[in-house]
Amino acid sequence: MATQFVIDGLKAAIEGKEILKGINLEIKGGEIHAIMGPNGTGKSTLASALMGHPKYEVTEGTAVLNGEDLLEMAVDERARAGLFLAMQYPSEIPGVTNSDFLRSAINARREEGSEISLIKFIRQMEGKMKELEMNPEFAHRYLNEGFSGGEKKRNEILQMTLLDPKIVVLDEIDSGLDIDALKIVSNGVNAMRSEDRGFLIITHYQRLLNYITPDFVHVMMQGRIVKSGGPELAQRLENEGYDWVKEELGIVDETVGQA
Ligand SMILES: Nc1ncnc2c1ncn2[C@@H]1O[C@H](COP(=O)(O)OP(=O)(O)O)[C@@H](O)[C@H]1O
Ligand SMILES: [Mg+2]
Repeated sequence: MATQFVIDGLKAAIEGKEILKGINLEIKGGEIHAIMGPNGTGKSTLASALMGHPKYEVTEGTAVLNGEDLLEMAVDERARAGLFLAMQYPSEIPGVTNSDFLRSAINARREEGSEISLIKFIRQMEGKMKELEMNPEFAHRYLNEGFSGGEKKRNEILQMTLLDPKIVVLDEIDSGLDIDALKIVSNGVNAMRSEDRGFLIITHYQRLLNYITPDFVHVMMQGRIVKSGGPELAQRLENEGYDWVKEELGIVDETVGQA
């Protein structure tokens, strides 16, 4: 079945405060969607709500991946169903090596009895690390502990390539990357483009989209997708900022005019 992911009317709150106010988005296999938007508009909240972070309470809506509502599932089930999230701020897990973490994550998605063999896993991991120009010693370091910002992002991409997900959500994967790392990470993503995989790329900067060409660009403001277009929309946001979108749509800043 061709991958299809439909987010319908998604609302989510943090500590009782509604952040997502009804997100609608459809991603098909083969498509890359980008979400851009000012700070604090709920982009990371969308990513976390989809993944099932306990702090984010989904109050309405569905997120159906190939016929199954992810929002009804436990976090590990969502991963097994094919959702992958590269977080804006990846967690450090002292005491768990990167390779142990990766192997557990792969095996958690397999049936009991069909776990990947250690040799096959190591061969795969080493191959992918080479493609991402990662130092082999990162396999044996504790997960993300002491990794630089750029090393964490590369490591997220390593996880993505090994887990072979159906829907990939990348939250600010370009933040903290120098230009060489940006190219390597982008190549890693582009190599994963396929007809049965869809991408949702959250970014502040159009720069990333010079390397990963999106099919659709969406603007998020105040917890809603307020405008959608093609790559030219990202270019215009880069050149002119967000004010023209607010003017065009009559959006008033929430923090202004309340005195
Ligand atoms: N863990 C949290 N606890 C309380 N408020 C949060 C938390 N995470 C995000 N928020 C608030 O939710 C809003 C949206 O944040 P976020 O989704 O991180 O925005 P973006 O990723 O678009 O910059 C902001 O007002 C932010 O302060
Ligand atoms: Mg964010």
